[in-house]
Amino acid sequence: MTAPAHIPVLLERCVELLAPALEAPGAVVVDATLGMGGHSEALLKTFPEVHLIGLDRDPEALERSGARLAGFGERATLVHAVYDELPDVLARLGIERIDGILFDLGVSSLQLDRADRGFAYAQDAPLDMRMDPTVGITAAGILNSYTAGDLARILRDFGEERFARRVADAIVREREKEPFTNSARLVDIVRTAIPAATRRTGGNPSKRTFQALRIEVNGELAVLERALPAAVKALALHGRIAVMSYHSLEDRMTKRVLAAGAASKAPPDLPIVPEDLQPRLKLLTRGSEKASEHENAVNPRAASVRLRAAERVREDL
Ligand SMILES: C[S@@+](CC[C@H](N)C(=O)[O-])C[C@H]1O[C@@H](n2cnc3c(N)ncnc32)[C@H](O)[C@@H]1O
Repeated sequence: MTAPAHIPVLLERCVELLAPALEAPGAVVVDATLGMGGHSEALLKTFPEVHLIGLDRDPEALERSGARLAGFGERATLVHAVYDELPDVLARLGIERIDGILFDLGVSSLQLDRADRGFAYAQDAPLDMRMDPTVGITAAGILNSYTAGDLARILRDFGEERFARRVADAIVREREKEPFTNSARLVDIVRTAIPAATRRTGGNPSKRTFQALRIEVNGELAVLERALPAAVKALALHGRIAVMSYHSLEDRMTKRVLAAGAASKAPPDLPIVPEDLQPRLKLLTRGSEKASEHENAVNPRAASVRLRAAERVREDL
């Protein structure tokens, strides 16, 4: 049986959106979130002349996708990097501009399926959640050291948790008895901290806490906030960017960056807009696009996806 979670999300649509920028010989495309290499493989197969640069902060993802893409030889360059390091990576490779870039945000099915990485609340595992397990603070480290105020802030801002303060206070109370190590205890504590009436509606109440911790552990929003403008800046004229988000915080940020690029910087009453104030981007998606019902049925990961894409239509002066 094939595991449905390993199917790349919105694969054909991503290829279609990037296609006009990748058909010319010598085109360079960046897969900023290589993961298992599903999208990268399709890009390399569909555009036989394209050179792909694949980034991932997870060494295990690089190993897996490296094996999968080995047959493409020098057409694929895989780099261990956080995607906000894109400008440095391109400089090191001697590449000035890119023709396409794809972001498939969040965690991979590989990371979710490996219980010992600690991303999934459904199974008891060490509270790690680092996409790159070689650096940085773990989820347990955060739970055991942040103040109640900081915990409440991340639960509210990154988990959109209505009961952030109650959950934060419960965490602080519990860690005084014994430090956190594993996910099952956290799941129990979150369940108890949330009012019974709310517990009966919606899914697992730990979902929001786990999302918040994962975002904090990996600095996800701060990294994305730097990476998206850098990606737009790196695009050649008529280069294209496609971004798949899986929660509203990422999607809002993507929407804001792409909309800012697509807006004129001129005051509304200016009769003729000078070239340097004209938009840099043209939006390619109307609002955000979702996966079809059919795709959601075969690939549960697709259910929350929101895809946005844009084309670079003007150079910086
Ligand atoms: C959803 S998966 C990508 C799946 C991939 N498109 C495929 O078809 O197999 C996201 C991947 O991006 C990586 N990732 C997430 N945030 C990152 C960041 N800031 N920098 C680099 N890689 C990141 C994760 O480690 C994970 O492997």
